Amino acid sequence: MARRANFFEHLHPPTLPRRESGFGYTFGLGGITLLLFVVLGVTGVLEMFDFSPQAPENYRSVARLTFEVPYGWLIRNMHYWAGQAMLVTATLHMTRVVLSGGYKGRRLNWLIGVALLVGTTLTDFTGLVLRWDENVAWALLVGTNVIWEIPGIGPMLYRIIVGADKVCCSATPVRFYTWHVLGLALPVAILIVWHLWRIRRDGGISHIAGSRHIRRPRAELVRVESLAAVTTLAALVWLSVSMDAPLGPPANLERPVDEAKAPWFFIGIQELLRHLPPLLGGVIIPVGALIAIALIPYVFDRSKEGEGIWLNRPGRNAQVIFGAIMAAIVLLGVIGALRR
Ligand code: HEM
Repeated sequence: MARRANFFEHLHPPTLPRRESGFGYTFGLGGITLLLFVVLGVTGVLEMFDFSPQAPENYRSVARLTFEVPYGWLIRNMHYWAGQAMLVTATLHMTRVVLSGGYKGRRLNWLIGVALLVGTTLTDFTGLVLRWDENVAWALLVGTNVIWEIPGIGPMLYRIIVGADKVCCSATPVRFYTWHVLGLALPVAILIVWHLWRIRRDGGISHIAGSRHIRRPRAELVRVESLAAVTTLAALVWLSVSMDAPLGPPANLERPVDEAKAPWFFIGIQELLRHLPPLLGGVIIPVGALIAIALIPYVFDRSKEGEGIWLNRPGRNAQVIFGAIMAAIVLLGVIGALRR
């Protein structure tokens, strides 16, 4: 009697393109990003049992979790490192999609992906503020002040995000906590489900036109995915055991802002803000880069040819524009990091 497919095998279509369902095409990056998000959900819920959002109790509760709650340090470290790793793997996954023409014929899913990257970045950003140590000063004072600069809606948006006319110890940390858990992480979870469903609706993973589809290897694919998942989890635990999530002295928002440090993924924006007016460096350039990325399948490469082909010719403009934006982000990040 034929063996029945299990739950995980059913998550995949019955037939798969031979080449593209292999590790050498996706590098498992979408799946690893998904796994990291699941880890974030589980460790985040565990952290919620001990966390108090009001300042200064927020700082004390994070310190208690780190130093007193049994295995609290491990839960916190895993949450922190999974958050940083998810940003890296989501960006690498997006890069793979651009270079292999994976966005072709998948415009809506590309936009969902861009929304996921924005949502993931903002979830990480709001999460960093929750520990309320000295490192949150840049995020709270410089990062949020950029919102004022948005023409027309800036002040209103600032109040919605920060909870008052200026950063304060009662409203702001509670606002950030609610944004982090319900305003951002929850929508990201919903978007991920939509993203995965769209892959099936778009005819499965991108592939070279007419490529050979095979029936058998669903179980084989699940085995490879399980191996990638166990390796990712092992790496995450190893990282969390060997390197602690940062926790400096309690926040002192009276200190000069010049000394404040942006989180690593905003070092590029901090660098731009050093040289340009806040509206240009903090809003127009970053949002412009994001819009350019979102428009890739709508403006820079509308062709269907080249799907599944690395560095395909019709996608040249898209690859160059994406590459230039990424290179600028990395370069600004390196310059900013060297300045610290
Ligand atoms: C942040 C959370 C994300 C998760 C959990 C996720 C998950 C996945 C998974 C599991 C796949 C299947 C193939 C693969 O593993 O590569 C996939 C495909 C895809 N993703 Fe994502 N993704 C995320 C972010 C993004 C981003 C930031 C973009 C681009 C802006 C994007 C665009 C796409 C597209 C267009 C496909 C179809 C590509 C193809 O079939 O080759 N995704 N995603």
